[in-house]
Amino acid sequence: MSDVIYVLNGPNLNLLGLREPEIYGSESLRDVESLCRISAEKEGFSSNFFQSNAESALIDFLHQARENAVAIVMNPAAYAHTSVAILDALKCFYGPVAEVHISNIYKRESFRQHSYISSYVDCVIVGCGIRGYQIAIECLIDKLRNSP
Ligand code: DQA
Repeated sequence: MSDVIYVLNGPNLNLLGLREPEIYGSESLRDVESLCRISAEKEGFSSNFFQSNAESALIDFLHQARENAVAIVMNPAAYAHTSVAILDALKCFYGPVAEVHISNIYKRESFRQHSYISSYVDCVIVGCGIRGYQIAIECLIDKLRNSP
Protein backbone atom coordinates (compact mmCIF):
# COMPACT_ATOMS: atom_id res chain seq x y z
CA MET A 1 0.00 0.00 0.00
CA SER A 2 1.21 3.54 -0.81
CA ASP A 3 2.02 5.69 2.20
CA VAL A 4 1.72 9.04 0.45
CA ILE A 5 -0.47 11.86 1.73
CA TYR A 6 -1.31 14.41 -0.97
CA VAL A 7 -1.43 18.04 0.17
CA LEU A 8 -3.17 20.40 -2.26
CA ASN A 9 -3.33 24.18 -2.13
CA GLY A 10 -5.58 26.39 -4.20
CA PRO A 11 -5.29 29.86 -5.73
CA ASN A 12 -3.17 32.64 -4.25
CA LEU A 13 -1.62 30.40 -1.61
CA ASN A 14 1.66 30.68 -3.55
CA LEU A 15 1.76 34.20 -2.05
CA LEU A 16 1.44 33.00 1.53
CA GLY A 17 3.59 35.16 3.80
CA LEU A 18 3.29 38.14 1.46
CA ARG A 19 -0.47 38.20 0.94
CA GLU A 20 -2.62 39.80 3.70
CA PRO A 21 -0.19 38.72 6.46
CA GLU A 22 -2.57 40.10 9.10
CA ILE A 23 -4.98 37.31 8.07
CA TYR A 24 -2.72 34.52 6.85
CA GLY A 25 0.47 35.12 8.85
CA SER A 26 4.07 35.57 7.78
CA GLU A 27 5.03 31.97 7.02
CA SER A 28 5.48 30.98 3.38
CA LEU A 29 4.09 28.05 1.43
CA ARG A 30 7.59 26.53 1.58
CA ASP A 31 7.25 26.58 5.39
CA VAL A 32 3.91 24.78 5.04
CA GLU A 33 5.53 22.21 2.76
CA SER A 34 8.29 21.49 5.32
CA LEU A 35 5.75 21.26 8.14
CA CYS A 36 3.73 18.73 6.14
CA ARG A 37 6.80 16.69 5.22
CA ILE A 38 8.01 16.58 8.83
CA SER A 39 4.53 15.75 10.19
CA ALA A 40 4.06 12.89 7.71
CA GLU A 41 7.60 11.48 8.00
CA LYS A 42 7.45 11.46 11.81
CA GLU A 43 4.70 8.86 11.46
CA GLY A 44 6.31 6.86 8.65
CA PHE A 45 4.34 8.48 5.81
CA SER A 46 5.48 10.76 3.01
CA SER A 47 3.81 13.82 1.50
CA ASN A 48 3.34 15.09 -2.03
CA PHE A 49 2.79 18.84 -1.94
CA PHE A 50 1.13 20.83 -4.71
CA GLN A 51 -0.20 24.34 -5.33
CA SER A 52 -2.00 25.73 -8.33
CA ASN A 53 -3.98 28.80 -9.22
CA ALA A 54 -5.91 26.77 -11.79
CA GLU A 55 -8.97 24.70 -10.92
CA SER A 56 -8.26 22.17 -13.68
CA ALA A 57 -4.70 21.50 -12.42
CA LEU A 58 -6.06 20.86 -8.91
CA ILE A 59 -8.63 18.46 -10.34
CA ASP A 60 -5.97 16.61 -12.35
CA PHE A 61 -3.88 16.27 -9.18
CA LEU A 62 -6.92 14.90 -7.31
CA HIS A 63 -7.35 12.31 -10.06
CA GLN A 64 -3.68 11.31 -9.64
CA ALA A 65 -4.37 10.89 -5.93
CA ARG A 66 -6.82 8.10 -6.77
CA GLU A 67 -3.88 5.95 -7.85
CA ASN A 68 -1.12 7.20 -5.58
CA ALA A 69 -2.37 8.57 -2.26
CA VAL A 70 -3.76 7.11 0.95
CA ALA A 71 -5.22 10.41 2.18
CA ILE A 72 -5.65 14.02 1.06
CA VAL A 73 -5.24 17.36 2.83
CA MET A 74 -6.75 20.18 0.82
CA ASN A 75 -6.83 23.93 1.28
CA PRO A 76 -8.99 24.78 -1.73
CA ALA A 77 -8.66 28.51 -0.90
CA ALA A 78 -11.39 30.47 -2.73
CA TYR A 79 -12.49 27.35 -4.65
CA ALA A 80 -13.96 26.06 -1.40
CA HIS A 81 -16.68 28.67 -1.83
CA THR A 82 -17.28 28.24 -5.57
CA SER A 83 -16.32 24.85 -6.95
CA VAL A 84 -18.66 21.92 -7.38
CA ALA A 85 -16.02 20.46 -9.74
CA ILE A 86 -13.51 20.15 -6.89
CA LEU A 87 -16.15 18.50 -4.70
CA ASP A 88 -16.87 16.02 -7.50
CA ALA A 89 -13.15 15.28 -7.94
CA LEU A 90 -12.80 14.63 -4.18
CA LYS A 91 -15.74 12.23 -4.42
CA CYS A 92 -13.65 10.14 -6.87
CA PHE A 93 -11.12 9.50 -4.08
CA TYR A 94 -11.91 6.77 -1.58
CA GLY A 95 -9.51 7.53 1.32
CA PRO A 96 -9.91 10.08 4.13
CA VAL A 97 -9.85 13.79 3.28
CA ALA A 98 -9.18 16.84 5.47
CA GLU A 99 -10.09 20.43 4.56
CA VAL A 100 -7.84 23.17 5.95
CA HIS A 101 -8.31 26.93 6.06
CA ILE A 102 -5.53 28.95 7.63
CA SER A 103 -7.94 31.71 8.67
CA ASN A 104 -11.21 31.30 10.52
CA ILE A 105 -13.56 31.59 7.55
CA TYR A 106 -16.55 31.79 9.95
CA LYS A 107 -15.28 35.10 11.34
CA ARG A 108 -14.96 36.63 7.87
CA GLU A 109 -17.22 37.77 5.01
CA SER A 110 -20.46 35.79 4.63
CA PHE A 111 -19.44 34.46 1.18
CA ARG A 112 -16.56 32.59 2.86
CA GLN A 113 -18.81 30.85 5.34
CA HIS A 114 -19.99 28.17 2.95
CA SER A 115 -17.63 25.52 1.63
CA TYR A 116 -18.83 23.05 -0.99
CA ILE A 117 -16.49 20.38 0.35
CA SER A 118 -17.01 20.64 4.14
CA SER A 119 -20.07 18.40 4.27
CA TYR A 120 -18.20 15.70 2.32
CA VAL A 121 -14.73 15.60 3.91
CA ASP A 122 -13.77 13.70 7.09
CA CYS A 123 -12.34 16.65 9.01
CA VAL A 124 -12.30 20.43 8.72
CA ILE A 125 -9.65 22.58 10.42
CA VAL A 126 -10.09 26.35 10.34
CA GLY A 127 -8.39 29.27 12.02
CA CYS A 128 -5.35 27.40 13.39
CA GLY A 129 -2.87 29.07 11.04
CA ILE A 130 -0.49 26.81 9.17
CA ARG A 131 -0.55 24.42 12.15
CA GLY A 132 -3.91 23.35 10.71
CA TYR A 133 -2.01 21.31 8.09
CA GLN A 134 -0.12 19.43 10.81
CA ILE A 135 -3.35 18.75 12.72
CA ALA A 136 -4.95 17.54 9.48
CA ILE A 137 -2.10 15.11 8.74
CA GLU A 138 -2.19 13.73 12.31
CA CYS A 139 -5.96 13.32 12.13
CA LEU A 140 -5.81 11.52 8.75
CA ILE A 141 -3.08 9.16 9.97
CA ASP A 142 -5.22 8.31 13.03
CA LYS A 143 -8.13 7.59 10.72
CA LEU A 144 -5.98 5.39 8.45
CA ARG A 145 -4.66 3.44 11.43
CA ASN A 146 -8.06 3.00 13.00
CA SER A 147 -10.00 2.12 9.87
CA PRO A 148 -10.99 -1.55 9.61
C1 DQA B 1 -8.38 30.35 2.85
C2 DQA B 1 -9.71 31.07 3.08
C3 DQA B 1 -10.40 31.38 1.77
O1 DQA B 1 -11.63 32.04 1.99
C4 DQA B 1 -9.53 32.27 0.91
O2 DQA B 1 -10.14 32.48 -0.35
C5 DQA B 1 -8.14 31.77 0.78
C6 DQA B 1 -7.48 31.14 1.92
C7 DQA B 1 -7.60 30.12 4.17
O3 DQA B 1 -6.68 29.32 4.14
O4 DQA B 1 -7.90 30.74 5.19
O5 DQA B 1 -7.51 31.97 -0.25
O6 DQA B 1 -8.63 29.08 2.29
